[in-house]
Amino acid sequence: PESDTAEAAAMLGQARRVVIFTGAGMSAESGVPTFRDALTGLWQRYDAHALATPEAFRADPALVWGWYEWRRCVVRRAEPHAGHLAVAAIEARAPHAVVITQNVDDLHERAGSTTPVHLHGSLFAPRCSACAQPAPVPEGGAEEPGEGRRTPPPRCAYCSAPVRPGVVWFGEALPQPALETAAEEAASCDLLLTVGTSGLVYPAAEIPQVAARLGATVIQINPQPTPLDAVADVNLRGPAAQVLPALVQAAWGDADQP
Ligand code: APR
Ligand code: ZN
Repeated sequence: PESDTAEAAAMLGQARRVVIFTGAGMSAESGVPTFRDALTGLWQRYDAHALATPEAFRADPALVWGWYEWRRCVVRRAEPHAGHLAVAAIEARAPHAVVITQNVDDLHERAGSTTPVHLHGSLFAPRCSACAQPAPVPEGGAEEPGEGRRTPPPRCAYCSAPVRPGVVWFGEALPQPALETAAEEAASCDLLLTVGTSGLVYPAAEIPQVAARLGATVIQINPQPTPLDAVADVNLRGPAAQVLPALVQAAWGDADQP
C-alpha cells in the first residue's frame, strides 16, 4: 500500500550508507529468467546438478559451456529496466550506496551502477578451468540449446585447458574479495534494500541478515513472501521495475532530473 512506499522512501531518503542487495527477480522484467519461479524458473526447466556444478563441467564441458553461452546470449538481448536505473539513481543520491548482486548478468553495469559486487561471478568473465587466466568473451549468440546440443568450450591461450564460465557453481566457494566487501558493507550500512531474491542460497542470503542483526533498516521488494520477510522492516510486495522507480521518486522527487 501507499503508506509502505512512503515509509520506505522516508527511510531511504535519510539513510547514510545504503546496500542494494539484488537477486534474479531484479532482472526478471528484462526478460532474464529467474531460477525458482514456478514454470519459468531455470531450475524448474533444467537440472542444476547437470549444469551448475564443477562435476557437471568435468563430465560434459560442452553441455555446460553451451548452456552458459545461451544464458549470456539472453542477457545480451536484454535491456536494463527502470528498476535498474532507479538503483543507479540511489547510488547517485545516497551519501554512500553499493550494489551487491547474486546475478551474473551485466544489467546493473549497463544501467550505470559503478561497481556492483558480484557474489556469484559473471557471465562476462570466462576463465581457464586450470590456470584461471581470464579468457576473451566469445562474440555471437547461442540459441537455447536443444536437448543434448553441445558447444565445445574454447581452449586457454596459455595452457590449452578448457575455458569455463566465470560463475560460482554449487559446491564452489564465493570469490573471497567480493564476499569480504559484501560483509563489510552489510555490517556498516544503516539501510539494506533487498530486491528480487528468494533468500534461500547461502552464504549470499546471510548478507541481509548481517545488516538486520547489526541494526540496519531492511526494506524488501518482492511480489512473493520469502524467508527475508522475517528481517524486513518494510515489505513492498510488487515487481522491481515498478516499485523501485516509485520508491526513488518518493524519496528524492524526480531523481532523473539533473
Ligand atoms: N521483481 C522482484 N522480484 C521478483 C520479480 C520481479 N519482477 N519476479 C520474481 N521475483 C522474485 C521471486 O518472487 C523470487 O523470490 O525474485 C526471486 C527470485 O528467486 P530465485 O529465482 O531463487 O533467484 P535468487 O534468489 O537470485 O537465487 C539465488 O541461487 O541458483 C542460485 O546462483 C543462483 O544467484 C542464484 C542464487
Ligand atoms: Zn590455462
